[in-house]
Amino acid sequence: MITEEQVLEALKGVEDPELHRSVVELGMVRNIKIDNDRVELDVILTIQGCPLKVKIQEDVENAIKALGASAAIVHFGSMTDEERARVAAMIRGGGNTQPSASAPNNGTVQGHGAGLNELSPLLGAESKTQFIAVTSGKGGVGKSTVTANLAVSLARLGKKVGVIDADIYGFSIPDMMGITQRPVVINDMVLPVQRLGVKVISMGFFVEDNSPIIWRGPMLGKMLRNFFSEIHWDELDYMILDLPPGTGDVALDVHQMIPQSKEIIVTTPHPTAAFVAARAGAMAIKTNHEILGVVENMSYYVNKDGEKDPIFGSGGGEKLAQELHTEVLVQVPIGQPEPMRDEERYAPSVYQENEEIGKVYMELARTVEQKCSVKV
Ligand SMILES: Nc1ncnc2c1ncn2[C@@H]1O[C@H](COP(=O)(O)OP(=O)(O)OP(=O)(O)O)[C@@H](O)[C@H]1O
Ligand SMILES: [Mg+2]
Repeated sequence: MITEEQVLEALKGVEDPELHRSVVELGMVRNIKIDNDRVELDVILTIQGCPLKVKIQEDVENAIKALGASAAIVHFGSMTDEERARVAAMIRGGGNTQPSASAPNNGTVQGHGAGLNELSPLLGAESKTQFIAVTSGKGGVGKSTVTANLAVSLARLGKKVGVIDADIYGFSIPDMMGITQRPVVINDMVLPVQRLGVKVISMGFFVEDNSPIIWRGPMLGKMLRNFFSEIHWDELDYMILDLPPGTGDVALDVHQMIPQSKEIIVTTPHPTAAFVAARAGAMAIKTNHEILGVVENMSYYVNKDGEKDPIFGSGGGEKLAQELHTEVLVQVPIGQPEPMRDEERYAPSVYQENEEIGKVYMELARTVEQKCSVKV
C-alpha cells in the first residue's frame, strides 16, 4: 500500500519548470487521497493557465506511477493572492518564507535617488557576479551572437549565467536563443526566462507582436535600471550584457551603472571595421572599464577543400587588440549552427558544444573564466 509520505517524498523530485523549486516545497501539492494503488491529488499552480501545466502533470504522474500506483489522477487549481505572495517571498528569500533583507527593491525606490547597489544585490559591494559587456563600434558584427554563445558556453562549464539584452530597440537575444516563453511574474517579482541553462531578460519579452519601440533616452536608462531592480536574478557568477551598436546612451548608462563591468569588443577582420570598433574600445578605456580582449568574428570561411578563406579580409582583430593594448581572445569562423530537431537544445544562433564553432566558443568561455579569476 502506498502511503501519503511516499507520495510527498516522490514529488519532492518534481520541480516547477519555471520556479525551479520542488512542487512540495512550493506548497503546490494538496489533498492526497489513496485508494489501494490509485492516487488522487490536487496541484495548485502559482498562476492560472500556467503554460507548463502539461509538463507538471506528466512529471507528477510519472513520479507517482514509479511508486507502483496503477493510476495517478491530478486535479489542478490556482493559488490565492496570499499564497502567491508567500511563494514570491520564499523565492526572494532563498528558501525562507519571510522576505530577506537583501531582497531586490521594487521599482518604487528608484525615483528617490536610490544608490545603485540598492537596485539589486548583484550591483552591491558584496556581489561576486562578474559583469561582461559585449560591445562594438558598429552594428551587425556579431555582438548578440557572441553574447548568446559565450553565455551558453559558460553555463556548459557549470557557471550560473545571466544575460541582459541591453539592446532595447533592436533586441535579438530571445530569437537567437530560441526563446518563446515570457517571464513569469509573481506579484511584483519578475523571474528571468531560463533557456539553455542561462537566465535571460530582454525588452523583447515586454513588447507585443514585435512592434517597433519609439522611446527616448531617459526611458532607456530607466529600462536598464528596471532590468536590475525588478528582476529576481538570484545568484550569478556571470552577467553578460549585449549592448546596442556604437557608443550611445545605453553604452554610457552601462558604464555608469556598472563601473566594475569588463568588456569584450567584437569586430570583423576587415581593418576598417577594426578602426570603428576602436572607438568603443576608447570609450571603455576612458571610463576605466577593463577590456578582457577582442573577439574577431567572421574571421574566415572553411571552404570545400578544408582551407581557411578570409573572405572578409584579415588582420582587423589583431590591429584592434594592439591599439587597445589587449589580445585577440578567439577568431570565430563563418558558419551557421547545424540544424536539429531537438527543440530543448536547438536555438537558431547557438552552436552545439561539439560543433567546430561551438568548440571555439567553449575556448572563449574558458579564457574568459581564467581572465576573470585573476585578481588585478
Ligand atoms: N560567425 C558567424 N557566421 C555566420 N553568421 C554570423 C556569424 N556571426 C554572426 N552572424 C550573423 O550575422 C548577423 C549579425 O549578427 P549579430 O546580430 O550577432 O550582430 P550584432 O553586432 O549584435 O548586430 P546589431 O548591431 O544589429 O545588434 C546575424 O544574422 C548573425 O546570425
Ligand atoms: Mg545585436
